[in-house]
Amino acid sequence: MSDAAKVPAGTDLIDEINRLRKERNAVILAHYYQKPELQDLADFVGDSLELSRKAAETDADVIAFCGVKFMAETAKILSPEKIVVLPDMEAGCSLEDSCPPEKFAAFRARHPDHIALTYINCSTEVKALSDIIVTSSSAETILQQIPRDQPIIFGPDRHLGGWLSRKFDREMLLWPGVCIVHEAFSETELLKLKAQHPGAPVAAHPECPPAIIDHADHVGSTSSILNFARDFPGDTLIVATEPHIMHQMEKALPNKTFIGAPGADGNCNCNICPYMALNTLEKLYVALRDLEPRIEIEEGLRLKAKASLDRMLEMASASVGKGDLGPVSAG
Ligand code: 13P
Ligand code: SF4
Repeated sequence: MSDAAKVPAGTDLIDEINRLRKERNAVILAHYYQKPELQDLADFVGDSLELSRKAAETDADVIAFCGVKFMAETAKILSPEKIVVLPDMEAGCSLEDSCPPEKFAAFRARHPDHIALTYINCSTEVKALSDIIVTSSSAETILQQIPRDQPIIFGPDRHLGGWLSRKFDREMLLWPGVCIVHEAFSETELLKLKAQHPGAPVAAHPECPPAIIDHADHVGSTSSILNFARDFPGDTLIVATEPHIMHQMEKALPNKTFIGAPGADGNCNCNICPYMALNTLEKLYVALRDLEPRIEIEEGLRLKAKASLDRMLEMASASVGKGDLGPVSAG
């Protein structure tokens, strides 16, 4: 049965979602790349790190996760006693797909002296094989706490890894994954857009390839791009990340103009994340009503994955240079 067919004719989706969220004691968490109507309904909208923290702290009985599967799995790993529903279980991620656990395990085995510093955009199995998880907003703080002589494998995003490597002048073995959304920005089209808006800065997510990052005035996570949008002194900003983030900018900053960086065809439709876009109001309603599709993780696997996520949460909160976390070693 299609999701539309599961919704009785005449259902007021917003009213029903509001009724069900109370009845279920549910919290609705949404990533900035979700459709505006889902962002507007959510109890909390945030970047991957903020959403992980919310999931770990909530006292709700149900977490309805408007995001992609690795995010909902992270919520379940950190809050195993909660019911975690994802409106569409097909909401995956090209970075996760690029890194099958067996291949990652074999790669690790070939480099036993390296620790695995792994982007949160990966499967639970890969988290379980990793030493420390990072998000784009915590990667810099965490990397600076790892002794410089400690060799590192960074996966699965080679662009985020490459950007960190250049910024901190630190070699890392990079897994060759990419985000298909950020990979689709076109340098040629970006340069044309910059020529049309002289003086407009560019804010880019570190999942972008170097050819885009090289033209950016600010590089950082979705939250840091939002902060830059608020603080930059001009009135027009070019945004090189998934365009649904501009919903928050437009709401908070109606006097500024935000322009999505273009893909190769000159418009930014190819930069909409096809996985994030699978979630809809209908599917959120059905998920809250049926408490399905539900995330389930085998306990042994969950505990292994939790260890690397806990390290992230701990190290992300440490002030660099003052932390007492000590060296993190391979194995
Ligand atoms: P952040 O929100 O952590 O910057 O991550 C972006 C992303 O790729 C989500 O899939
Ligand atoms: Fe994955 Fe890219 Fe979509 Fe984020 S935007 S979920 S990294 S495919």
